[in-house]
Amino acid sequence: MNKKLTISAIKKSKGQKPLVMITAYDALFATLLEPSADMILVGDSLNMSFAGKSDTVSATLEQMIYHTNAVCQGAKNSFVISDMPFGTYTSKALALTNATKVFQETPADCVKVEGGEDKAEIVAHLTQNGIAICGHIGLLPQSVRSEGGYKVKGKTEEEAEQLIKDAKAIENAGAFCMVIEGVKADVAKRVAESVSIPVIGIGAGKDVDGQVLVFSDMLGLFEAFTPKFVKKYMDGANLVKDALQSYANEVQNRTFPKEEHTY
Ligand code: KIV
Repeated sequence: MNKKLTISAIKKSKGQKPLVMITAYDALFATLLEPSADMILVGDSLNMSFAGKSDTVSATLEQMIYHTNAVCQGAKNSFVISDMPFGTYTSKALALTNATKVFQETPADCVKVEGGEDKAEIVAHLTQNGIAICGHIGLLPQSVRSEGGYKVKGKTEEEAEQLIKDAKAIENAGAFCMVIEGVKADVAKRVAESVSIPVIGIGAGKDVDGQVLVFSDMLGLFEAFTPKFVKKYMDGANLVKDALQSYANEVQNRTFPKEEHTY
């Protein structure tokens, strides 16, 4: 059985070994991925791959609490990160009320908030009040509507310097690690080198302190679209469809159930 990581072990892993983070939204998949992941992220991406919405923006705190409990139930020995959904951390007071609710109603080990320098005061308020924080900088999926799409960051020197400022601000605010998403690889490397806490990449190249992928993307289950940074480790959608069609065929031609499936 894996030993659950602590925040101090996660911080110490920087420069030692890359961290493996995978998302999960339910107990079944959390149990399956627990042996392979250092950290499980209950991402608000569940609003897309689980709830079928077109972005993460309409995910609610209640949804996150429900799915975080399911994941913690299935992966009792894992470090679990719960995403704070859009609109739930727009002020210090609101953020603390909502993050406290997540901590009181789930066994999550920390919450994740999107934003850099602009969210540093809020992150500091949370960490000063006992809420462990994983930051999230770079491409921020919760800003997809205001930005008019998913835009890769770090394309100019100005953007690169802002990302480094963001990372430092989040570290100084007390976060113990952060996700960096959709950033040019050379810039993500500079960002990771600029802070002393682990920077976990998604679409940010290999020179960071770990990687995170959405499980339904990496297992090839999510068919709506596949970002460039996703590697499909199996052809999940077709495997599932083939299995289901085999079942349907066997029901229709009465070859299921057989003797061994019958009382
Ligand atoms: O919601 C999510 O799954 C995430 C990952 C993309 C990092 O935030």
